[in-house]
Amino acid sequence: MGDETGGSSRQGHAPGSTAETMITVGILTCSDRGARGERADVSGPTLHNLVLDRLGGVVRQYRVVPDDRSAIEAAIREWADDHRLDLVLTTGGTGLSPRDVTPDATRAACDREVPAIAQAMVLASLRITPYAMLTRATAGIRRRTLVVNLPGNPKALAENFDTIVEVLPHAIDIIRGVDTHGGGGHRQGHDHARPAASASPVRTSASHDHGAPARTVSSDPIARDVGGPPC
Ligand code: MTE
Repeated sequence: MGDETGGSSRQGHAPGSTAETMITVGILTCSDRGARGERADVSGPTLHNLVLDRLGGVVRQYRVVPDDRSAIEAAIREWADDHRLDLVLTTGGTGLSPRDVTPDATRAACDREVPAIAQAMVLASLRITPYAMLTRATAGIRRRTLVVNLPGNPKALAENFDTIVEVLPHAIDIIRGVDTHGGGGHRQGHDHARPAASASPVRTSASHDHGAPARTVSSDPIARDVGGPPC
């Protein structure tokens, strides 16, 4: 991948989507060693494949920057303001070391935070590893661009992406001002963003609800297949 990935032979067209409605994505790898060329970037290409295969998006920008707050912030601003990307995904620099500044740069670049995206990733990841609590990752909106921090480790990256991918098309539609109530957003029915398998629902007892009807809850920390977005 070069700095500008204007086209890809593997562009993932979601069923029914056109080039105009595809989600445009920027991938920002935050790594001192990667930026110095001392380590090949594995996270960026991993994320590229996930965007194509799971989100059906198109990667328009890709860059490796050092763990430097102003470099990260500048890339987010440029991709949101000049390139007007739908989604910027960062990878790396979300942990506790003094050089981990990606969340701080993201907050500085964004107008509004979307804390529940990061909370959902932590919630799901804690079922995999307790070390998931060692992230400071955040998500936010700059103008019409959603920015999400992901970890640098490729496995952790894929686990976190898997948690949020189903909801991303709808989030982007809302940010873009698409009327998601009037006949559905233009990216709905985005089958690429569906999880591979849904968790088996668990029927709760109504006894402790004092007569309230029984609810169906998921044994998965994130509810799946809920029948479309309610917002
Ligand atoms: N989340 C998942 N799902 N799986 C993981 O292995 N690793 C954690 C956490 N989140 C992990 C995870 C660890 S060990 C760290 S330090 C933080 O992500 C931050 O990672 P980063 O510094 O590479 O951004």
